[in-house]
Amino acid sequence: MPTYVIAGASRGIGLEFVRQLSQDAHNTVVGLARSPKEATSRYGENLPANVTFIEADIVDHQSLKSAATKVESIVGGKLDYLINNGAFISQLSAFKSLADFPDDPDILAEDLTKSFRTNVIGVIQTVNAFVPLLRKGTAKKVLTLSTGLGSPDFINETEVDVAAPYAISKAAVNMAVAHYNALYKKEGILFMAISPGYVDTGNGPDLSDEEALKGAMAMGAKFAKYAPHMKGPIQPDESVSSMLKILGNASIEKGDGGSFISHLGNKQWL
Ligand SMILES: NC(=O)c1ccc[n+]([C@@H]2O[C@H](COP(=O)([O-])OP(=O)(O)OC[C@H]3O[C@@H](n4cnc5c(N)ncnc54)[C@H](OP(=O)(O)O)[C@@H]3O)[C@@H](O)[C@H]2O)c1
Repeated sequence: MPTYVIAGASRGIGLEFVRQLSQDAHNTVVGLARSPKEATSRYGENLPANVTFIEADIVDHQSLKSAATKVESIVGGKLDYLINNGAFISQLSAFKSLADFPDDPDILAEDLTKSFRTNVIGVIQTVNAFVPLLRKGTAKKVLTLSTGLGSPDFINETEVDVAAPYAISKAAVNMAVAHYNALYKKEGILFMAISPGYVDTGNGPDLSDEEALKGAMAMGAKFAKYAPHMKGPIQPDESVSSMLKILGNASIEKGDGGSFISHLGNKQWL
């Protein structure tokens, strides 16, 4: 009876993880959400019997501790999979570079801090809260959602110079994943970072102003040059099923511990 926790499961890719995993009635699936009520309401009257949403804000240590206690009783003390999905995706710097705040260094500093707080410290706090349950699990696998934007090679090749605070925080979380591998490989816990690809969740940046639209088009042109085969963003179901397949096949024995790869299973990010 595999047990799963998805942190940041209220919408987008996180909610799709819950949907796909709940289709197997043998799975027990717990979604952590800042508003479990809102997450649950997305199912209307049809929340599957093997799904529970519970409250947790990944930047709040106490809330994670209390979530871990609740999860412990739901999963019978053993957790097989932890999926770190939740992230702060800054709207403010989505189409701005590190040079775009010449007179507002504090605004840039705050954006960097918020990105780091959720995308790095939040993930670290989540892992630390759930390691005791993972130790007792059978599969012992932790997936952290990253992004190709967190790959220096991708940035150097494409010259994407926007969304820097987000990209920098994801590069940092890749390093945290490597550190967790160094720490827990010997205990048989697998840590991986996977980029989901370019996914249309319907929650993307607001493109209503002209500057944002121009930025999005410029980024789209860079993506198209990097991946001429790409027709546009993929849907969450395709991204999540690819990531779950990779996670299912991955193992410490095959050398996957601490790796950072794409939903395609390699270093092709789009
Ligand atoms: N979509 C893409 O193209 C893409 C590309 C590369 C990487 N990714 C990565 O994939 C993951 C999911 O992205 P997405 O596109 O599905 O994003 P999204 O639709 O914006 O959803 C973000 C999720 O994170 C949750 N979250 C944010 N801060 C949180 C916190 N402090 N505590 C708990 N939950 C929190 C949000 O919950 P609330 O509803 O409470 O805000 C929401 O469920 C992220 O890690 C993202 O970096 C996405």
